[in-house]
Amino acid sequence: MVLVTGRSGRFRRAVAVSASCCAALAMSALPAASQSALQAGQRVAVVTGSTSGLGQELAVRLAAMDMYVVVHGRNAERGKEVVAEIEAAGGRARFYQADFGSLGQTRAFGEAVLRDFDRLDVLINNAGFGSSPDERMVTEDGLEFRMQVNYLSHFMLTQMWMPLLRSSAPSRIVNVSSGAQQPIDFDDVMIERSFSGGRAYAQSKLAQILFTVDLAERLQGTGVVVNSLHPATYMDTRMVARAGVAPRATVDEGADAVMQLVTDDVGSGGYFNGLRPARANAQAYDAEARRRLWALSEELTGDR
Ligand SMILES: NC(=O)c1ccc[n+]([C@@H]2O[C@H](COP(=O)([O-])OP(=O)(O)OC[C@H]3O[C@@H](n4cnc5c(N)ncnc54)[C@H](OP(=O)(O)O)[C@@H]3O)[C@@H](O)[C@H]2O)c1
Repeated sequence: MVLVTGRSGRFRRAVAVSASCCAALAMSALPAASQSALQAGQRVAVVTGSTSGLGQELAVRLAAMDMYVVVHGRNAERGKEVVAEIEAAGGRARFYQADFGSLGQTRAFGEAVLRDFDRLDVLINNAGFGSSPDERMVTEDGLEFRMQVNYLSHFMLTQMWMPLLRSSAPSRIVNVSSGAQQPIDFDDVMIERSFSGGRAYAQSKLAQILFTVDLAERLQGTGVVVNSLHPATYMDTRMVARAGVAPRATVDEGADAVMQLVTDDVGSGGYFNGLRPARANAQAYDAEARRRLWALSEELTGDR
């Protein structure tokens, strides 16, 4: 991992190149057996963060719908296990490794998918890091960790893959957010003051919803549908275990809610609490806040 102490464009470029190399190496090191071929006309789904929890279940379900699934995460061992699980059930999938704490690795992942596929029918922006541990972490790009991993990386990848999503329409994007939502303080987006892990997580999750509303407006009439949701409360996953919270819901419940947004006629630009349409934090409906977030996101991800 490369540590960034400055924020000049030149330095950032060097980081991006270095991280791209690492990601490319990780991807080419995969055994050929796990790289089963895409069949002509087969739909393609990307599930970020599908090495465990909700994402893993979604990857399995989408593969069972005869989609080729791009499995993604940091943990190669678990990624290969998910691919093996899909292949054992007769499906097709391939694992791509990228740490969203590196915009360089995120971009390399985006480029690898553009290289390997000529369509993208379903994009589930699911990868996430929760509120625990309650400490401020900074990525190698010098950004607050949850904001980058949970939101900015998905903003970047969605932009990169938009030509594929548009040409594959009707296509779907689902942003896996949360009921934990806290307004973004545009004077302190990287939470240098009054930090808590809960605030960082909730801010990044609300950012996903602002992004969803804006994206739906921009995609009107294109056949690309985008929605966001709180999947379920305290599902039995690694994130919840790390927080030391007793699970209250199953991964299946959360997966049912996400799959509704993949398969049903639910409109675009909405926020759902489980299976039901819901209202998000008021900032999601503030056009000026959305404009500021979009501009900031382009600035933070554009030159990396
Ligand atoms: N669990 C709940 O009750 C709950 C409630 C509301 C919303 N959610 C949302 O549901 C989504 C899935 O969470 P989960 O509960 O299934 O958690 P999980 O089991 O911990 O899964 C998180 C996934 O995100 C990936 N990930 C984490 N940090 C990453 C990073 N830096 N770079 C790339 N990938 C990274 C993980 O990959 P590796 O392990 O390979 O790093 C893993 O595949 C998250 O967006 C979460 O915010 C969950």
